[in-house]
Amino acid sequence: MSGRMQAVRAEFARVFGGECTLVRAPGRVNLIGEHTDYNEGFVFPVAIDREVRYAVAPRDDRRVVLRSLNFNAQAEFSLDDIQHDAEQRWSNYVRGIAWALQGAGYPLRGMNAVIEGDVPLGAGLSSSAAMEVAALLAFEVAGGFQVEPVQAALLAQKSENQFVGLNCGIMDQFISRLGRKGHALLIDCRSLDYQAVPVGGDDVRIVVADSKVERGLVDSEYNRRRSECERAVALLSGRLPGIRALRDVTPEQLAEHADVLEGETLRRARHVVSENDRCLRSVAALRVGDVAAFGRLMDESHQSLRDDYAVSCRELDLLVEAAHAVPGVLGSRMTGAGFGGCTVSLVRAEAVARFQAEVASAYERAVGRPPEIYVCSAEEGAGTVEV
Ligand code: GLA
Repeated sequence: MSGRMQAVRAEFARVFGGECTLVRAPGRVNLIGEHTDYNEGFVFPVAIDREVRYAVAPRDDRRVVLRSLNFNAQAEFSLDDIQHDAEQRWSNYVRGIAWALQGAGYPLRGMNAVIEGDVPLGAGLSSSAAMEVAALLAFEVAGGFQVEPVQAALLAQKSENQFVGLNCGIMDQFISRLGRKGHALLIDCRSLDYQAVPVGGDDVRIVVADSKVERGLVDSEYNRRRSECERAVALLSGRLPGIRALRDVTPEQLAEHADVLEGETLRRARHVVSENDRCLRSVAALRVGDVAAFGRLMDESHQSLRDDYAVSCRELDLLVEAAHAVPGVLGSRMTGAGFGGCTVSLVRAEAVARFQAEVASAYERAVGRPPEIYVCSAEEGAGTVEV
């Protein structure tokens, strides 16, 4: 058990006393397939070694009593009256999960819980999905019931969409719940079928660079991109009557019918259609060990997100350029929703130290402050922790 997990357990003993169960859910980094999940397309994320941890025990009443170590704060609510908390906003993730589980008919019980995490907040590594997925497991433990993992991811997404109010796709909750150690998951966001593909063998590393730019515009621009995609589908369906989402459009079809879309809508659609194609091609390359081809497709993904989807920013572009200047970097791109947050790079193991030094100093020279750079490992999705 990690030192942080022990701290969560010790805090539970101090605040609530008695036995507890430990659960955890990881953050994620998406290797390729960006802004494709809500277009019913393909994504290829890994669950990472940054996680949210809960120490939890059932109560005899219907109250949920929470203590957050990160915020050094308490929150409490009744399962019979689940409301938003405008002050302890971190607790809304737990409230939303209770709301979604109850709505789906699960027999919730009150619980005491201590919560702690080291997924950086607002960095695009899905700290909120980790909070939600861990909360869902905590309610399972407290209530003595089990939720099938794909169903759990869908309920966590529903909570984020309808209770927290962010219209995200399924990727983050899915990978946090179903990630596999040493693997990335190729997820079909329409059928929710998935395949685990080994990543980060002995000689390559997944390196995340956090721009430390607050993702200011992300909510409104994210929802705007979603509607632009829907508009593209509506316009294209005049020519391609069978389509339901941009997932159904091939790059050739888009090129053939480009005239029905005006400039900006065409660029948005072109990103999504090409990104689905890149995601499938990059996974095929990885399966045959062609990490160089995988890296090139990551680079193309970044260009497409920057130029066609317009969700990058100067700081993310700087990090990607600085990465490209380091020999041994196979590919580099922004990851997550964009407008700040992180880049992900695939780096040969022997080049990691140089990457850390050179990308950090180039970024600091240009922006005036250092980025934070982590080497990530691909971890198991959420679960209980053996004591
Ligand atoms: C956010 C959303 C995901 C996905 C990505 C972009 O992380 O939560 O559902 O849409 O942005 O790929």
